[in-house]
Amino acid sequence: MVSMVRILSLIALLLSLSFTSGAADVPDAAKPQPAANVEARNGRFQALHPDQYASWLATAQQSAREDALAEDPRLVILWAGYAFAKDYNKPRGHAYALTDVRETLRTGAPKGNDDGPMPMACWSCKSPDVAREIAENGEQAYFHGQWARGGPQVVNVLGCADCHNTAAPGFSSGKPALALSRPYAARAMNALGTPFEQASRFDQQSMVCGQCHVEYYFAGKSKAVTFPWKQGTTADAMEALYDDIRFSDWTHQLSGAPMLKAQHPEYETWRSGIHGQNNVTCIDCHMPKVQNSQGQLYTSHKIGNPFDNFEQTCATCHTQDKQTLTRIVAERKQSIGEIKLKVEDQLVHAHFEAKAARDAGVSEAALAPALQDIRHAQWRWDYSIASHGIHMHAPEVALRTLGTALDNAAEARIKLAHLLASKGINGPVALPDISTKEKAQQAIGLNMPQILAEKIQFLKAVVPAWEQEAQREGRLDK
Ligand code: HEC
Ligand code: HEC
Ligand code: HEC
Ligand code: HEC
Repeated sequence: MVSMVRILSLIALLLSLSFTSGAADVPDAAKPQPAANVEARNGRFQALHPDQYASWLATAQQSAREDALAEDPRLVILWAGYAFAKDYNKPRGHAYALTDVRETLRTGAPKGNDDGPMPMACWSCKSPDVAREIAENGEQAYFHGQWARGGPQVVNVLGCADCHNTAAPGFSSGKPALALSRPYAARAMNALGTPFEQASRFDQQSMVCGQCHVEYYFAGKSKAVTFPWKQGTTADAMEALYDDIRFSDWTHQLSGAPMLKAQHPEYETWRSGIHGQNNVTCIDCHMPKVQNSQGQLYTSHKIGNPFDNFEQTCATCHTQDKQTLTRIVAERKQSIGEIKLKVEDQLVHAHFEAKAARDAGVSEAALAPALQDIRHAQWRWDYSIASHGIHMHAPEVALRTLGTALDNAAEARIKLAHLLASKGINGPVALPDISTKEKAQQAIGLNMPQILAEKIQFLKAVVPAWEQEAQREGRLDK
């Protein structure tokens, strides 16, 4: 009798394992929730919430594109072997999220329906269709496949259903609650200790931004978006986690170092800065309450530079005038910028020196400690500068983290100098001409004319076909 029960429970266990094995890649992956009924077509809410809608639409006015590689060609060398060396623009208005992910050279020029080079995860912070897809089909199904698979599905730009539950009765009756539309973000927030549902209104305000303005990596076979927060959200804590799980985003083309690419850890850096510590939320500065033409207050959805609304943002808490605070923030930006460039110069040299050492016959085992220093230095540099606005959000964090980056880079270069000397190379290792973006890209062998031509063809042929399909299937407004 006992053995029968045992066998039955063993069979049950085996069955349950075989049913769940498909989901093992994304731990706790969210299952489909067809009842959630996410409305991704932003235009559907124009009549209902005209002020919020109009201000949301106005993020299109923040259209200036700034080419970060042209401004600072060292970046091409730091990201050699990774798609960021081809193209990297600074962020602009939310209205451009979808255009920019389609147009960046980083996403390449897929031709087939399920082509890369990027995974599905690259759509994740661009559109409420991601929330809709996950609700309808589950997280596992959403992350499945390559980037081009999402083309006809992900067609509405970052909007209402990214931050609100559009299916909740409140959204239509005038009191829309905030919601986390990404289950992977909800899991990460739980890991920090406060589940969204139990968080205060102020905590929730920053959490909705923290769905996207964070550090993340693409985990496992399915390349699911995952936040590396298990040990904390500082540069040290995330570095320790990445080292523990031996994660790297790519192998550096010159040095061969196992590299990490920081995304845009605004939520993390804000948390450790003075405003985050005092729970001054992203909304206090980036989405102030403003008046409509009838004098009624509403939340401005034109998320941009808070200094443009000084009276409704900084001045609600501070007595200093706009000029004073603008100057303070600009000075901080400048001092961070100075150290940032020093770290970059050290890292550029280190990458070429590691290559020279390998070319001269130094073994991988002997190189490994220096490569680990390069990995850490560049991660720390990236954490500090990829978090746009850090000079405002947490300048002291940026300065400290950049200081440790400088230290790591110096360690790497001392080790490399010894290794080079052991092979009889005693002078400085020469650098190629990297004085412009074009020259730096040539130096690492990127064929930019071809990459550009393929992209133009993709934008002419593939993207319109995606939009037609979405139109036919009723996923777009017009
Ligand atoms: C990036 C996140 C985000 C997006 C996108 C977004 N909202 Fe909001 N929304 C907020 C936040 C934050 C608040 C303020 C909540 C609070 O006061 O606690 C808010 C508040 C509101 C309110 C409540 C009234 C008010 O003005 O405070 C309405 C209505 C609203 N949003 C409608 C919309 C509509 C319609 C869209 C799409 C066109 C949209 N929202 C897109 C974050 C967002
Ligand atoms: C669904 C993902 C997502 C959410 C949620 C989100 N953002 Fe963004 N945000 C982006 C992306 C993507 C960009 C860059 C768009 C581009 O450059 O094409 C961006 C750009 C920005 C910019 C730069 C604007 C400019 O004109 O330079 C600011 C500021 C910003 N976001 C703040 C916020 C705040 C504050 C919140 C929360 C209320 C928020 N974002 C919520 C994805 C998101
Ligand atoms: C105390 C006010 C304040 C808070 C709180 C705040 N920000 Fe900012 N943020 C700013 C200011 C001011 C700037 C622009 C700095 C400048 O002028 O150089 C900025 C810049 C940014 C940028 C870069 C925009 C660009 O085009 O480079 C992003 C993105 C951003 N903030 C997102 C966030 C997010 C997300 C949060 C919450 C986690 C947040 N901010 C919290 C004031 C704030
Ligand atoms: C909701 C209230 C609030 C808003 C809005 C706000 N701050 Fe603050 N700010 C604070 C608090 C609280 C502190 C910490 C004060 C302290 O501990 O003495 C602070 C501190 C500062 C400091 C000094 C701290 C340091 O880093 O040395 C500066 C500078 C500053 N804020 C600038 C700004 C600017 C610029 C804006 C608008 C973009 C802004 N703040 C918006 C509440 C606010």
